[in-house]
Amino acid sequence: MTYLTRRHFIRKAAQLTGSGYTAMMALGLIPEAPARTLNLPGSGNGKRIIILGAGMAGLATAYELGKKGYDCTLLEARNRPGGRVWTVRKGTKETETEGTEQTCTFDEGQFFNAGAMRIPHHHESVIAYCRELGVPLESFNNTNEGAYYYSDGGTGPLASKRIRQRELHSDMRGYTTELLAKAFDQSALDLPLSPEDREKIIGYLVAEGSLDATRLYKGSSRRGYSVVPGAYDQPGKMADAPALLHLIEAGYLSPHFYNVPEYTYEQQTTMLMVPGGTDRLTDAFVKKIGKKILYGAAVKEIKKTENGASVVYQDQKTGATRELAGDFCICTIPLPVLSTIANNFSSDVQRAVDMVPYNDTCKVGLQFRRRFWEEDDSIYGGISRTNMDITQVVYPCSGYLGKKGVLIGCYNYGSTAERLGNLSLPDRQKMVLEQGGKIHPQYGKEFESCFSLAWQKIPYSMGGWAVYSPEARQRYYPAFLKPDGNIYFAGEHTSYLTAWIAGSFESARRTVEAIHERVQRGGASASK
Ligand code: ALA
Repeated sequence: MTYLTRRHFIRKAAQLTGSGYTAMMALGLIPEAPARTLNLPGSGNGKRIIILGAGMAGLATAYELGKKGYDCTLLEARNRPGGRVWTVRKGTKETETEGTEQTCTFDEGQFFNAGAMRIPHHHESVIAYCRELGVPLESFNNTNEGAYYYSDGGTGPLASKRIRQRELHSDMRGYTTELLAKAFDQSALDLPLSPEDREKIIGYLVAEGSLDATRLYKGSSRRGYSVVPGAYDQPGKMADAPALLHLIEAGYLSPHFYNVPEYTYEQQTTMLMVPGGTDRLTDAFVKKIGKKILYGAAVKEIKKTENGASVVYQDQKTGATRELAGDFCICTIPLPVLSTIANNFSSDVQRAVDMVPYNDTCKVGLQFRRRFWEEDDSIYGGISRTNMDITQVVYPCSGYLGKKGVLIGCYNYGSTAERLGNLSLPDRQKMVLEQGGKIHPQYGKEFESCFSLAWQKIPYSMGGWAVYSPEARQRYYPAFLKPDGNIYFAGEHTSYLTAWIAGSFESARRTVEAIHERVQRGGASASK
């Protein structure tokens, strides 16, 4: 309990200092994943490895070590694999930490990814495993210029009026490039540029902002039409651009409407997804790993021993307590959960386990009887964004023109996720429908069913992902980079790719390499 309270405090502090995921990405703290396929010489000679957690890191380590002849046992507290890769479908059940139960009542074939839903095109380790395991990938529409921005409140003619993303993007490019072009034109900028260079820059700005011959922004067909072009006598009518001041006073220059998919390396086009649900990737690993996963095995104690490691777990079905000994242990348990488990870790590791905060995050899947966002609004995939607590509406980018559909009616982080997570299930649903209904008035008539989750309240996760401030990275992170006796640590929290599957895979590979190298060297503690 002490641990939980302390962690709660740290989480709050992280929220206050704004060290959320988007902030991390914007600061460039999450670098690129390298391309690599593991190809290790030698054999593991049946060394016994206990892997804690059958999330992506646990599955990948078991898969790789299995290839090399290690004898792996995965202990998974849940009755399913995947951890935070979790696809919610008809019949999915979940009980949050406070005992709130829900069962998904979507139609057969409808689903949403409650956890990982998108893969950056440069996360080579994820793509490599998809290739190796025969899991197809297709485009995830992270960017849709036809999706909406909706600023709730504000003043002026655009107050509480939804606008298409293409409109804001075109208008802001137009107005800012106009200002810059003026500055260059009047030689107002003290730059060492020749007149030819200056003209080139102005030419670029005119193209970038769609400025007219006088280098002014007067709107552009890029932002769309009030009457769309058609046949015969229908040339179309360009929509008028709003005044810059009107965008400002309505709130559209707030960070909620920054162009995240373009600004952040991880979210740039092309993003990928696993057709049918990200859990298909999990399933592919499970097929390879077979019976080595013990489900319903809740870890109660982790001990390093003289020549290996020992883990006490409780069989959730029978209540029986068992102990398992191994030559090595790989712990992938998320830190908010790990900090509640008895252990004899070094003080450095214990401190890091307690001190690294995780982000709160919620997702709410909504099934509608009609895909009104496609039929009425021409939105095929992509994400609408708002300054309301729901933060994002994520449209499905598969099953276009289908009769029904599930969209993610809320995907938020930090304090807004904490607020939503603290509501009862009916109140969450009410809030998400009310707020989303301001963007899509069709919500009221077309809504069928809801499944909501607050990751900070999902047992065995208790958070979305690790959030490292630069200080936490320096002070605590190093504890996870080396083994504590024969116990190794893996998972997104042991990488610089936190919040991504690639972080789990990269850490899994590094752990496998480290253990295998140690076994090949035949170190005393590894010899059994
Ligand atoms: N990587 C996670 C996402 O795609 C956090 O939103």
